Amino acid sequence: MKRVISLIDMDCFYAQVEQRDNPSLWGQPVIVVQHSRQGIEGGILAVSYEARPFGVKRGMTVAEAKLKCPQISICHVPIGEYVDKADIQKYRDASAEVFRVLNNYDSQIIIEKASVDEAFLDLSAYTNQKLQELRENEGLEEFLQAAITYLPTTHLATGEDVKENEHLREDVLLEYIENARNCTENLLLLIAAVTVEQIRQQIHEETQFFCSAGVGNNKMMAKLVCARHKPRQQTLIPWFYVREILRLTPIGDVRGFGGKMGNRIQEMLNITLMGELLEVDISQLIETFPNQHEYLRSVAEGHCDEPVRPRKESSSIAVSKNFPGKLSIRSVLELKKWLDGLTKELAKRLATDQAENKRTAENLVYSLLTEDGKPQKTLKITSYHPDTLFEQIWAAMKGLNKTNATKNEDSGPWTPPILNISLSATRFQPGIPAQNRSIHEWLYEKKTRKSRRKAAIYDENDGREDVIFVEPPEKLKKPNPTPKSTGTDGDFIVLGSDSDDDVVQPKTDDNWIFVDGKKFSKMAWRHLPPDIKKHYQHRIALEEARALKSKTGGSRKRAGAHTDNAQKPKKPKSLESFFKKKKP
Ligand code: TTP
Ligand code: CA
Ligand code: CA
Repeated sequence: MKRVISLIDMDCFYAQVEQRDNPSLWGQPVIVVQHSRQGIEGGILAVSYEARPFGVKRGMTVAEAKLKCPQISICHVPIGEYVDKADIQKYRDASAEVFRVLNNYDSQIIIEKASVDEAFLDLSAYTNQKLQELRENEGLEEFLQAAITYLPTTHLATGEDVKENEHLREDVLLEYIENARNCTENLLLLIAAVTVEQIRQQIHEETQFFCSAGVGNNKMMAKLVCARHKPRQQTLIPWFYVREILRLTPIGDVRGFGGKMGNRIQEMLNITLMGELLEVDISQLIETFPNQHEYLRSVAEGHCDEPVRPRKESSSIAVSKNFPGKLSIRSVLELKKWLDGLTKELAKRLATDQAENKRTAENLVYSLLTEDGKPQKTLKITSYHPDTLFEQIWAAMKGLNKTNATKNEDSGPWTPPILNISLSATRFQPGIPAQNRSIHEWLYEKKTRKSRRKAAIYDENDGREDVIFVEPPEKLKKPNPTPKSTGTDGDFIVLGSDSDDDVVQPKTDDNWIFVDGKKFSKMAWRHLPPDIKKHYQHRIALEEARALKSKTGGSRKRAGAHTDNAQKPKKPKSLESFFKKKKP
């Protein structure tokens, strides 16, 4: 029996966190930028979907982004409270909110946290149970007739789904639903797709965040198709279409093949697509990859056995800081300063984790990357208090100084130069030991200090802590800025062109496209990225089809469809009445 797996991935995650923090940024082009190091502005980490039509991409510099989209809002990743390094705690906290929704949805669904903004879901047990219930209660037929109304953002990955002028999304889905009636495997996927729509909706209701998803028979396919229709949509890949989808999939797009392994396959076999990997002569595959040929062949066929591993909390909490090249640490005082800051950051995270997850780390591993090697040591944690942690680490670490002249261990030069310090707490045990009271005192002190600091920042920053708005430099300002965002509030950016030089200003309705109650200039339409355009083309085609249907009295029927199926069913029942949830 095949598994039923989904991957849920948040849309432009850090950007959404910033947009929620400052709601005036919703619907606006926004980038989140790594904080600057030694005066060099950091690169772009996240790009809101409203900024993507302008060609703004991750990895670009802020200057490049501003050239492409002068009105872009720039948010900076906050800097640590104790060390001069990025503090991504607010994105972790936002991630925890999302995982709270996922973990509480239904105890039969296994959740694996795959990264800060994505999770694998194993829905096998859940969907089997629901299907059994539907069959026992004779509710399956009614569910099938209503199913389309529970799939407002679902696409079926047929291969045609990403082409322009594609099929109508709804029609393809209706046909799938119709044929699923006699195929348990597809019924389970259908129930999964409906459930994932519901989960995504709940994530949005509880966190305001939008996400996308893939649903299929294994992790590899769920992850692959999740990226097919983004943002705010989901893609279902039935096994029947797996080969067709993989045929044109670049090898590097497959999970686990984006790095060295994928490059080796491409170089050694002189291919670029998964479909080509499947066609490689078996003797050549054995010769080139003697130990992996079976695995590679099965991946090319779309197989992946990797289970979804329930992982709610991470098994270690680590802080680390790089000191590359000239920035390497060369004195005891410098090392102690950084160690002190990092220890405080770690203590802060450990205390939060302890309160939230009711667990305590036993071990602390420190490691120093030096020009001479990577000494590392494991210590037993006796207290979470930062001063105790610091003393413990320093007592063990100071002996690593190779400077001969060291008389006073607490000052003077340090050799060999240190390129990275990392501290990692591991071996978490359930519970909070009684002696940890002192950490709460420390946290309490910290809180009062922080609220004072916050108050100061609020004053300076108009109440928008950690969000920095950068006006484009004068020289980058064009007299007439290029396509101006005229607000979106709903789905995607709607571009206006009222002040664009090189484009004739639309005057009549012939120059506008109406879709989903929104008005686009045809010029702006041309500027939309293909995926968003495609989304709207769906909608336009759908609206046209609906209009035609109502004119012809809804005579267009699918072969084999029940008479009462031919018309789109009204939502006869809430999904809850079909699926009763199990609480953990
Ligand atoms: P992604 O899921 O890769 O990207 P995204 O959520 O920004 O956009 P998409 O809608 O295409 O999924 O990464 C999640 C977050 O992780 C991202 O918002 C910022 C952060 N991140 C980094 O800090 N550095 C990186 O190199 C990447 C890839 C992501
Ligand atoms: Ca994402
Ligand atoms: Ca991701």
